[in-house]
Amino acid sequence: MFLYPPFYRKLKRGPQVILPKDIALIIEFSSIDKNSICVDAGTGSGWLALSLARICKFVYSYDKRPDFINIAMKNKEILNIDNIEFKNKDITKGIDERNVDLVALDMPNPELVIKHAKKALRDNGCLVAYLPNIEQVKKFVLKLEKSKFKDIYTVENMVRDLLIRKEGSRPTNKGLWHTGYLTFAYK
Ligand SMILES: C[S@@+](CC[C@H](N)C(=O)[O-])C[C@H]1O[C@@H](n2cnc3c(N)ncnc32)[C@H](O)[C@@H]1O
Repeated sequence: MFLYPPFYRKLKRGPQVILPKDIALIIEFSSIDKNSICVDAGTGSGWLALSLARICKFVYSYDKRPDFINIAMKNKEILNIDNIEFKNKDITKGIDERNVDLVALDMPNPELVIKHAKKALRDNGCLVAYLPNIEQVKKFVLKLEKSKFKDIYTVENMVRDLLIRKEGSRPTNKGLWHTGYLTFAYK
């Protein structure tokens, strides 16, 4: 099963990470680029935060656990990335930055961050939450609808490995099916 391009294989993992197939959607559906400022929480192993930093101008990544920030800092060194700041803060208490292009949330109860994301984002800026369970998605979306974010939608990205052989080609028998649902909304 092909999960990681070679770039990711050298990275350390602590808590569960967002995999490249989902990171790809976050980057494209948020339309971030080399001029973008992003906020991310929780940092965890830093896989999403560092992938965002590879392509945008600067990333502020929040986590309330210093031990997880340490893992992400090791990954930052491995990748030699310096356009990122890790913040040992609970993001449900507020976001310091303003006029940002993306707020990406991979943590329980992202609905507690909606009001802070609204203040932090620029007009048309993107809020995305990565959530493993559909009950969490429903709670998040119902709260988003009350908060006047626009263009709210939820997607799941499934990537299939194909077995290419002389005798006949088809999808492999094994695969990684569910990782998480991605809910996007725009200010
Ligand atoms: C699944 S991990 C994130 C993984 C990360 N997205 C990655 O790709 O490596 C979830 C993280 O959210 C953090 N977290 C949970 N609640 C938080 C909060 N209120 N503020 C900041 N971080 C929080 C946890 O400490 C944990 O490190």
